[in-house]
Formats: sequence, structure tokens, C-alpha cells
Amino acid sequence: MPTTGAKPAGAVDEASAAQSVQQMFNSIAPRYDLLNHLLSANIDRLWWRRTARRFRSTLANPNAAILDICCGTGDMTLALLKHRPNGARPVLAADFARAMLSRGAQKFAARQRGTATAIALEADALHLPIQSGSLDLIVSAFGFRNLANYKAGLREFHRVLKPGGHLGILDFSEPGGLLGKAYAVYFHRVLPAIGRLVYGAAGPYNYLPTSVGNFPPPPEMLSLLRATGYDQATWQPYTFGIAGLYTARRADVA
Ligand SMILES: C[S@@+](CC[C@H](N)C(=O)[O-])C[C@H]1O[C@@H](n2cnc3c(N)ncnc32)[C@H](O)[C@@H]1O
Repeated sequence: MPTTGAKPAGAVDEASAAQSVQQMFNSIAPRYDLLNHLLSANIDRLWWRRTARRFRSTLANPNAAILDICCGTGDMTLALLKHRPNGARPVLAADFARAMLSRGAQKFAARQRGTATAIALEADALHLPIQSGSLDLIVSAFGFRNLANYKAGLREFHRVLKPGGHLGILDFSEPGGLLGKAYAVYFHRVLPAIGRLVYGAAGPYNYLPTSVGNFPPPPEMLSLLRATGYDQATWQPYTFGIAGLYTARRADVA
């Protein structure tokens, strides 16, 4: 059966899947940044920066309306802000896990006065409190994979984007070949063990490799993007395909 969305252990439907994801991120929020950088050897910073660079022409427009959805503790948002001119319209940074979002909000508040900033918004990616056809760019880093319904997520992003607006989805992938085999050992065995040690419970770091395994592979994601009203859909692998960036444009005719 094709994957429709994230299915954390024990979830029986989309509502319980979303609730379980929300609870999980609220519970790991205090250690999220530390574990993230530790487990990725800081490569995550390069991935966020590279994603932001991909959209630098939109980011350079001070009037562009931009959303970082599933922003978590805000590091993708901070990478986007580096490309925003001073005095630019604030970037909207949204997440439904309050404990993650409040950490992001603290980082945004700590930015120097006069520099471009972000507004933290508690919101569900599948039901955005945002006017239809109003955004120039939506970016999501390591968040989309956690949605309870991928098609519904892409439809909701399509609704709020302007025709011609751009979407960027950065997420993990499963590399093939020999490297893929070695990486699978790290991802499925070593990473959950470190996660358990630092975090003190198995759940979240068992969920991560499982969720990546269930996430549609690039050809399927590209078809899904095209089927939900996007054109110019591409996938750019990062770091041998451990992660990658999907980009697409809301087609002019909805
Ligand atoms: C792995 S974290 C990524 C955070 C950040 N973007 C980063 O790159 O570090 C995934 C985030 O997605 C959020 N998330 C998952 N499903 C969501 C939904 N339906 N609506 C809003 N946020 C959601 C979680 O709360 C969590 O903060």
C-alpha cells in the first residue's frame, strides 16, 4: 500500500499520528538542537544554508511573503534570514509543537535590532491560518516527512502559495549502493542507540529511521508534487543522497 503520511508506532489514524508527532517533539524539544548537531556531525547546518541559498533571489526581495513550516527550533528560519535585507517583511516561522517553537522564538528575539526577523506562529501545517494565494515561498526542513498526510500537506501549501510561488522541502533520504548499506547501519542502529543514551528513551530515535524508510522516494515525491498542482519539480541530493531538497513551483493555472 502506498505511504500516505507519517505513522508513528501506535497511531491508528491521521489524528492520532499527528498527536503522537506533536507530543514527541514537545518532549524532545529541550535536547533537540544538541542531538541534532551531534547525530549529524553539524552537516545539518550546511544543508540549511544550501537550501536557503537556493531561494536567495526570492529572499532578497524585501516584500516577499515567506513561510518556514515545521520550523521547530528555528535553525532553517535563521538560515533564510541571512539572505533577507534589513527592514524586509518578517519570515513566518510555524510549528504545532509549542516547546519547539518557543525555542525558535527565543532565537529570533535574540537577533540584533534592525536585522531581518521572523514571527513565530503556532499552527498545523495541514490547516494553515494563512490567506489563500498569499505566499511567495514555503520552505520546510525535516518537517514534511512527519505530516500525517503528505498529499493534504502539498494541497495546503498549494492553497496558500501565490500562482508561481515556490516550495522547498528538505528532508532525509535513503542513499543506495555500498554507502547506503553503511549508512543504514548508522541510521538504524547507531543513531537510535545514541539518541536513547542522551535522551533517555527509545521512541523518538527509533521513529526517525522508520519515518525516513516510509517516506516516498524521490520519483514518487516528484509525481506527488506534479499531481497536486506543482510544476518544475526537482530533487537535488545532498551529501551522497543522505538528504535532499525538493523544489517545485505552484503552477500558474491551479
Ligand atoms: C525534525 S523537526 C524539524 C525542525 C526544523 N525545521 C529543523 O530543520 O531543525 C520537525 C518539526 O515538524 C513539526 N511538525 C510536524 N508535523 C507538523 C504539523 N502537522 N504542523 C506543524 N508542525 C509540524 C514538529 O513539531 C517538529 O518541530
